Amino acid sequence: MAPTPALLDAAERLGRADLEALQLERLQDTLLHAYENVPFYRAAFDAAGLGPDDCHTLGDLGRFPFTTKADLRANYPFGMFAVEQSELRRLHASSGTTGRPTVVGYTEQDLNIWADVVARSIRAAGGRPGQKVHVAYGYGLFTGGLGAHYGAERLGCTVIPASGGMTARQVQLILDFRPEIIMVTPSYMLTLLDEFERQGIDPRTTSLQVGIFGAEPWTEAMRAEIEERFAIDAVDIYGLSEVIGPGVAQECVETKDGLHIWEDHFYPEVVDPVTGEVLPDGAHGELVFTSLTKEALPVIRYRTRDLTRLLPGTTRAFRRMEKVTGRSDDMVILRGVNLFPTQIEEIVLATPGLAPHFQLRLTKQGRLDALTIRVETRHDTPPGRGEAAAREVESAVKESIGVSATVEAVAPESLERSVGKIRRVVDLRGV
Ligand code: DLL
Repeated sequence: MAPTPALLDAAERLGRADLEALQLERLQDTLLHAYENVPFYRAAFDAAGLGPDDCHTLGDLGRFPFTTKADLRANYPFGMFAVEQSELRRLHASSGTTGRPTVVGYTEQDLNIWADVVARSIRAAGGRPGQKVHVAYGYGLFTGGLGAHYGAERLGCTVIPASGGMTARQVQLILDFRPEIIMVTPSYMLTLLDEFERQGIDPRTTSLQVGIFGAEPWTEAMRAEIEERFAIDAVDIYGLSEVIGPGVAQECVETKDGLHIWEDHFYPEVVDPVTGEVLPDGAHGELVFTSLTKEALPVIRYRTRDLTRLLPGTTRAFRRMEKVTGRSDDMVILRGVNLFPTQIEEIVLATPGLAPHFQLRLTKQGRLDALTIRVETRHDTPPGRGEAAAREVESAVKESIGVSATVEAVAPESLERSVGKIRRVVDLRGV
């Protein structure tokens, strides 16, 4: 069943040919804007022997160089911005990678477009003006909370800005304020489920009708469990800070058949993660985005590292992306927080008594992700020092990455090696 046309905005009703004409025009503007205003892009295009006017078809984009998270970090904090600082209305930052976060900025128009695409996402998920939306994504530098918030307001909903944490209070708010919609990470939704049950309340009896879940991978099995236990529709929302935040793509409640990419603002490609070659629609690879309307932080061929494939649209001409199944780098998403093993490495290296040999083990503790870091001591580490060092790593991880981990100091050379290498990440969460 498709949504009735009255529920779609003008861009959602475009046919493929008109959409592609719009994309090409916006792409050419974006390339010019990036080239003229961001020294990084000027240098990258020049090095590739390309100018912004060398893009005559959408396919020509594949000749332009990629942008990576490392490029954003190298230009920390504001080097990738294409507008004066006085034009920026908001900054957000993404965790992940060593040391520096990735900083993203928005002009007033960018914030407007972001609210529009999130509003469109909530509508595609089944949300309607006048409904109440409980936002339990974290508020702050993370794009989840504020992104969801302004989108829900834009649609004409009443927002309950619960943010993350304080599970018992979240349950109380849901019972008292009676929201129809909840926006939260899928893993935290399962924690809420347990809390309802702990309080002896049947989660099927709440006011909730729709859950809009994202910021981390989740499975069809989780969808089935959440839908069954809460008696709601569970749909997937995708996005990343560098591209805008939540609201890059959204699953439609009528079909639940993958996420429609809001292609009037974000142009997708799927490439071979190793060679970078552009793959045809339908082939599995790494998702790459080019922004089509962003002013403050235009991104050209941004490597998301997310693995998926592109499929034709069903309820709209926009193409769909299959649920993200994994990443082409070793980034770990722990309770919605992005983290790279290299961040742990920095901490381990700075802690006396520990060898630079460690392993991250991800498990489920009840509903929540749990991280255990096993790290080897050195041959000359005095007795007792290993334990103290483990506690130091725990506080440093909490302090610098913002996640709780259990650290175990283990004997030298006790971590299993395969061809001399320790597997950095062992993911036992079953996702
Ligand atoms: O997680 C934005 C967001 C907030 C999306 C709330 C949806 C809901 P970042 O912190 O920059 O931004 O992390 C982006 O999270 O590259 C994916 O690896 C992962 N991710 C986001 N949504 C999904 C999803 C936000 N629906 C990174 N399924 C992305 C799988 C997701 N992974």
